[in-house]
Amino acid sequence: MKIKNKNWPWKTIIEPFKIKMVEPLGFTTREERQKILENAYYNMFNIKAEHVLIDLLTDSGTGAMSANQWAGIMVGDESYAGARSFFHFESTVKELTGLSEIIPVHQGRAAEKILFTTLNGKGKYVISNSLFDTTRANVEASGAIGVDFPIKEASDFDKYHPFKGNADVEKMEKFIKEKGAKNILLCVMTITNNSWGGQPVSMQNLREVYQLCSKNQIPVFIDCARFAENAYFIKLREKGYDKMPVEEIAKEMFEYCDGAMMSSKKDAIVNIGGFLAMNDNKLAQRCRQYLILTEGFATYGGLAGRDLEAIAIGLKEVLDENYLQYRIRSAEYLGEGLMKNQIPIIYPTGGHGVYINVKKFLPHIKPQNFPAQALCCSLYLEGGIRSVEIGTLMFGKRDDKGNFIPAPMELVRLAIPRRVYTQSHIDYVIEVLGYIAKNKNKIKGLEIVEISDVLPHFTAKLKPVE
Ligand code: F0G
Repeated sequence: MKIKNKNWPWKTIIEPFKIKMVEPLGFTTREERQKILENAYYNMFNIKAEHVLIDLLTDSGTGAMSANQWAGIMVGDESYAGARSFFHFESTVKELTGLSEIIPVHQGRAAEKILFTTLNGKGKYVISNSLFDTTRANVEASGAIGVDFPIKEASDFDKYHPFKGNADVEKMEKFIKEKGAKNILLCVMTITNNSWGGQPVSMQNLREVYQLCSKNQIPVFIDCARFAENAYFIKLREKGYDKMPVEEIAKEMFEYCDGAMMSSKKDAIVNIGGFLAMNDNKLAQRCRQYLILTEGFATYGGLAGRDLEAIAIGLKEVLDENYLQYRIRSAEYLGEGLMKNQIPIIYPTGGHGVYINVKKFLPHIKPQNFPAQALCCSLYLEGGIRSVEIGTLMFGKRDDKGNFIPAPMELVRLAIPRRVYTQSHIDYVIEVLGYIAKNKNKIKGLEIVEISDVLPHFTAKLKPVE
């Protein structure tokens, strides 16, 4: 156990909740799963959830709400305009972020779509530690160009670094000088950094990026989907923050931005929702016009009043340090279990799951045959466990002849839903992967049957190579 908490001297970190309502898991036989995989064209997104035993596809919108949040659902105000639940939501987000203009949206990518469409930065650059794939897609759809500046330590998966999610400030500065500050539309800091293993960003890095961008009059927006997990990592790993309550750390993080966007499906522990927030009231007015056109009126933004209520409650609950200790430990525990079975992962584990380094794990499968996707299929076949590929299929870049260009990484993400699974579920995942590790040379690659151009991994059809 590496997490030290003076209020919890025990080795065993426990789930900080008791269970009041349960749902059955989807048990199937290996034979049935073989057929299901075939019918799903070897794509995890085509498998019915009821045929999944342990669903680690995503931590987005899959969390379990608390009794308090469900109570909030009952008292949610469903008035079209000016609902009480909106003001509860608005004041909570304001208090957390310190930002003045709060716009509700139905999920993270709606915030991205509204922001980048409104900014209309055709031909300009959006710089980032790393844009999440929907963010990049929305940047590109608006005609702007996304450029990532992860630190070089991020790509050394085996070596410890406390803040692999950081942006390379020097490289960013060089780029700004090269392109001219006027051509940089925005900087987005994604915390934690989902594309590179859910790795945290340090306070120092947030501060330095903000100073650099402010000097050049480039607005900084934080993609704060997993802000609480990031804040807890700062408490654990950054000098000077170990005694500060996580809530204060979170508030300080937001001092280093001009705006924020959130998929509340993560660290607000709700099943749907999000927001766009900023200080620039003129920009906010323009964003609200687009909001009304596409999402809904300014005081509900595509959500029901009850959703706004649940978000407001979740944003506070997520900062409970007993919860965060359990949360971060869950990923670390799974990571330790995999490493004991000689399965290479992105080390150290991040906040919301474990990422298997498949390039190293299955070197016998060429990137063009989607090794990470092949591992996802094997994990489903052997154990009914659903995971997600982050590799050549997801990035989907192809040359003129339509051949896939290998992605820089081949990862399988095991994302852990919040407050859903217990330690025995995780032990089971470790056992299944241990079995796969012993038989990994039998895993075969895949080839494409059918593929689309936009976010291809969602709809691609595949089959095993003969
Ligand atoms: N930003 C980050 C960092 C995300 O991880 C996501 C979603 C979004 C934005 C978009 O939010 O889904 O509410 O529209 N990530 C999910 C995942 C899909 O599985 O990691 P959304």
